[in-house]
Amino acid sequence: MRMYDLIEKKKRGGALSREEIRFMIQGYVSGAIPDYQMSAMLMAIYFSGMDDEETTALTLEMAHSGDMVDLSPIQGFKVDKHSTGGVGDKTTLIVGPIVAALGVRVAKMSGRGLGHTGGTIDKLESIPGFQTSVPREEFFDIVKRTGIAVAGQSGNLVPADKKLYALRDVTATVDSIPLIASSIMSKKLAAGSDGIVLDVKTGSGAFMKTLEDSVTLARKMVSIGIGAGRACTALITDMDVPLGFAIGNSLEVIESAETLRGRGPEDLKEVSLRLAAEMLHTAGRGDAGTCYGMALEVLEDGRAFDTLLAMVEAQGGDRSFIENPERFPKAPFMLGVKAPESGYVAGMDAEGCGVASVLLKAGRSKKDDAIDSSAGIILKKKYGDAVEKGEVLAELYASDEALFGAAKERLLASYRIEGEKPGERKWIYARVTGDGAEMF
Ligand code: URA
Repeated sequence: MRMYDLIEKKKRGGALSREEIRFMIQGYVSGAIPDYQMSAMLMAIYFSGMDDEETTALTLEMAHSGDMVDLSPIQGFKVDKHSTGGVGDKTTLIVGPIVAALGVRVAKMSGRGLGHTGGTIDKLESIPGFQTSVPREEFFDIVKRTGIAVAGQSGNLVPADKKLYALRDVTATVDSIPLIASSIMSKKLAAGSDGIVLDVKTGSGAFMKTLEDSVTLARKMVSIGIGAGRACTALITDMDVPLGFAIGNSLEVIESAETLRGRGPEDLKEVSLRLAAEMLHTAGRGDAGTCYGMALEVLEDGRAFDTLLAMVEAQGGDRSFIENPERFPKAPFMLGVKAPESGYVAGMDAEGCGVASVLLKAGRSKKDDAIDSSAGIILKKKYGDAVEKGEVLAELYASDEALFGAAKERLLASYRIEGEKPGERKWIYARVTGDGAEMF
């Protein structure tokens, strides 16, 4: 078999067989297939696509390119949740404790921020002492004791995705549905949970900008998950507007803790409850309505907040920061961004808001950049809000005043202010199961 022939076949729109995909992935991971040939293949896949059979084969070959985690030492149903990436998306810190408080185990591996989107590991590392690199045995032990542990990817997990993702990032081939589906699902399958709930974001701040593409991506991922023997469903949620008010690492941890104390923003609370209900449903705890009621109960009675505290403590973090969020170090500089005119917020480019937070150093511009845990944005006005000229739209936080100029410009360009009050927005657009998509 020759990689050249496989590239030629895909370039002409042919379907690759399981054996051909195995040859390609094993050869790429071992170094026998060079980056330049894989780059050509990625571009051919970008333009020619992959059918469901090929995408499933690619996912399984990628998942088996390294270790497959065996979670069987942990008793009971283990459920995972994955977001395709968003701005202000801190739901893991809320839904994990909710479902764990109800006895469904969460043994979760999370990632760092990517581009304009944040990552759970960066957020957790803003809690003093919190360890995101935990040896496997200890990780299992924490899940058994507290019901939940969240760590960074460790060991040799899906090396094919590490190499492929880095190559896609520099060859303009990230936004391909089969490549995104196989990248995400290979990691979810290798991480070993029995159930997987996918939060597929849609809109300006998401990888998938249209609802149609988001539903297609969700259907592909759900079908791969079910085909691999896992319980798997997806919600399509809004990412035209950032989720909640906080963007940036410690700011988002504080907002998550507040949400678990019943003082969170409505959009964040509702999306989190719906995701938690989906995870409970996946674990066989009842229909969607019953599971939503259970999730709401542990959020309101404080059990989910207590579970977050237990997890933070078990992973070496100082729980007093979660109990008293004013203990988090505040960024030394703050700038209020003022509305240039009166009207209503009729649009917020979520990607632009994410880029503004990266400019403040809440995220990375380059892979090895250090991030500033206290940097970020608190939105004071969101979609649909009335605003007077000169009123503060958002507060920027940074450790260096020189960063404010570019971030302010980017944030202001993200707000669209119009004279008319805009129509209502949805937070959740659809639910995707093995039976198809239910649109809301
Ligand atoms: N997240 C991933 O893990 N992979 C992708 O391709 C896109 C988002």
